Amino acid sequence: MALLKKKVDAPGLPEVLPTHIGFIMDGNGRWAKKRGLPRGYGHVEGGKAFKRIMKYCKEIGIPYLSFYVFSTENWKRSEQEIQGILKLMTEYLDEVQSHLDEGIRYVAIGDISAFPDYISTRMQKLMDDTKDCDELTILFCCNYGGRHEITHAAREIAELAARGELSPEDITEDTVAQHLYTAEFPDVDLVIRPSGELRLSNFLIWQCAYAEYYFTNVLWPDFSTEDLDKALIDFAGRGRRFGGA
Ligand code: FPP
Repeated sequence: MALLKKKVDAPGLPEVLPTHIGFIMDGNGRWAKKRGLPRGYGHVEGGKAFKRIMKYCKEIGIPYLSFYVFSTENWKRSEQEIQGILKLMTEYLDEVQSHLDEGIRYVAIGDISAFPDYISTRMQKLMDDTKDCDELTILFCCNYGGRHEITHAAREIAELAARGELSPEDITEDTVAQHLYTAEFPDVDLVIRPSGELRLSNFLIWQCAYAEYYFTNVLWPDFSTEDLDKALIDFAGRGRRFGGA
């Protein structure tokens, strides 16, 4: 994927920016714990950080952002915490209905049918309402897991093969990519994971195969536009060879 030339005249930013940034919004629970608050408060602040960062990315012209909102593993959390995250999602899905003119396309990546109807119908409506917006695309990874996504793609491809519509020898990397939820979107260039954890945690594992990784000890609720600038400067200094010499 070609990298972007910076669109706005922001002196602190490098000339070359990533086209697609993936955010693992980690550290909400620890942010709350440090303050003696229930974990849900951390997610509320995490939701504010999401809005701050996506607004800034839109201003500087990054066209694709992915956010890990809810993983297939997050169902193991307490009912109270899950309900808190679902409430935040619902509030955002309602709030965004008054901002449909901002040119942001929203796409949910993952099996949203597992969510209560009030979430999946709102999410589907938002995807339909914004399908022609092209200033910024936000991929919400919701009930998402990279292994689950690849398994789902493998099943679809196997069904085509079983029906005789595709020969096994014609299956290429491109075939797999075309059966992922992200078929129409570019691979991730930069993954940002705050909170000091050095893992991908099943986040867009196919799409991040050649991504650069940026880790910071800052907790997601504290993640600022200055922290993002640091990540972008670091990214611009990396030599990306995609396996070449
Ligand atoms: C991981 O931090 C965070 C989550 C599992 C939830 C992320 C969800 C939000 C920020 C709400 C987003 C809402 C919208 C509208 C996008 P953690 O809880 O695992 O943190 P910890 O490792 O410190 O416990």
